[in-house]
Amino acid sequence: MTSSFDPAWNQWPIANDPAIRQALQNAYEDGSWGRYHGPHVERLEAVLAEMHNVKHAMVCASGTIAVQIALRSLNARDGGEVIVAAYDFPGNFRAIQDAGLFPVLVDIDPLTWCLDANAIEEAISEKTVAVIVSHLHGGLAPMGTIREIAAVHGIAVIEDACQATGAIVEGRLAGANGEVGVLSFGGSKLITAGRGGAILTDRDDLLQRAKVFCERGNNAFPLSELQAAVILPQIGQLEQRNQVRRDRVQRLRDRLCDLDSLLRPVTWCGKRPVFYKHAWLCDTAQRAQHLTQLALLNHFPLGEGFRGFFKRPSSQTRKVGSFAGSQAAAERTVLLHHPVLLQDEMAIDQLADWIRNELRDG
Ligand SMILES: Cc1ncc(COP(=O)(O)O)c(C=O)c1O
Repeated sequence: MTSSFDPAWNQWPIANDPAIRQALQNAYEDGSWGRYHGPHVERLEAVLAEMHNVKHAMVCASGTIAVQIALRSLNARDGGEVIVAAYDFPGNFRAIQDAGLFPVLVDIDPLTWCLDANAIEEAISEKTVAVIVSHLHGGLAPMGTIREIAAVHGIAVIEDACQATGAIVEGRLAGANGEVGVLSFGGSKLITAGRGGAILTDRDDLLQRAKVFCERGNNAFPLSELQAAVILPQIGQLEQRNQVRRDRVQRLRDRLCDLDSLLRPVTWCGKRPVFYKHAWLCDTAQRAQHLTQLALLNHFPLGEGFRGFFKRPSSQTRKVGSFAGSQAAAERTVLLHHPVLLQDEMAIDQLADWIRNELRDG
């Protein structure tokens, strides 16, 4: 089927945003754009901490390095184990290894794409130091339950909110539910500076260790003044934009709801989920491939999911339980990328019609 889907609907960030222009202009005029230290990073850290209702926020170069800084802040002994979902952002597995720790895999909840809280206890050993929990593809992990299990066993929770900035999980903002939370300001993210990340924590000792890890005569993984300057206005825009995204996702789901047996949407979690991506699980891997390949050709913003870690050799990881959810997610996920969700309802209807037609033909 031919399509008139406008490639401009996929554009991100939004071009010509006056708030960003003003922030850049201010950083230009006050000279902070060229300094190691200035008012923007300091202000951003204060705003992030206040927004998430945590004691400390520390910004850094990316979400990927933020996960590693979070792990380093725990001061875990070499060889300590970190539980992580077998379907997650690839950098999280690597971050565990780079921190001298050992990844232990558990399955995801196939309805939310997030680590299955019921799988954690079986994976805990005397070496376990932490669990990394990522909110993925519009799904939210049950942080209260996870925190309780972790507290019983004395392990730390790292909450990766890189895909869920502004989401509310059981009454608290995503990123504020563990010992350390992680945010990303990477180029595709809901708040972007092209690159960037942050850790959030209530604990002075964790912040102190995070700073020591980054300090190599200079901060080795900094966020620049210029990046901080453009992030600040986006924080004010976040919730209004997230609400538009929720409304558009709801419309799209409504329009496709009779097709759930072919394309099952991620479970809607609470009142304020956030859609950096929106996931569906196809009934077959072939259908998922067909949809994502055609979408690419026609500029529709649908792509594949992560590949997952469940095939990694046992020299690299300890695997606990079955990985039916992770394997299905790796093979059958279709992800909608968020920029189109700020377009009008016509764009959403066009997307829904295209998906419906392709499912009928495929
Ligand atoms: C769940 C998750 N964690 C971490 C990251 C890494 O963030 P960054 O791209 O800023 O390195 C991403 C990036 O997509 C992610 O999706």
